[in-house]
Amino acid sequence: MQNYSEKVMEHFRNPRNAGEIKNPDGVGHVGSSVCGDVMELYIKVKDNVITDVKFKTFGCGAAIATSSMITELVKGKRVNEALKISNRAVAEALGGLPPAKMHCSVLAEEALKSAVEDYHKRSF
Ligand code: FES
Repeated sequence: MQNYSEKVMEHFRNPRNAGEIKNPDGVGHVGSSVCGDVMELYIKVKDNVITDVKFKTFGCGAAIATSSMITELVKGKRVNEALKISNRAVAEALGGLPPAKMHCSVLAEEALKSAVEDYHKRSF
């Protein structure tokens, strides 16, 4: 059993912004090469600000907690500011992750980048 922080457990039990956005402006779809878990992130963008974000994660508890946390961190942020959020920042906001679970936070960072990339593709 991994040693998870209280905050990780809380986000795992009560994930924020879980689900899907109908007609999103960008969708990120990534998979972890370490474990095969999959994360999808949907964003709504208005005037360059992420106004809504939701996720669907098929993965471990840490992947669910990091998905939940990244949605909280990016909501209301300008797209270029949101892109500066690293996987370490997500893990720190959760009170840390066990070393063997850091790759789960990488999935969250990559899902966001992938969603923003998709948004840029759609808007040009
Ligand atoms: S074990 Fe794969 S994302 Fe957590």
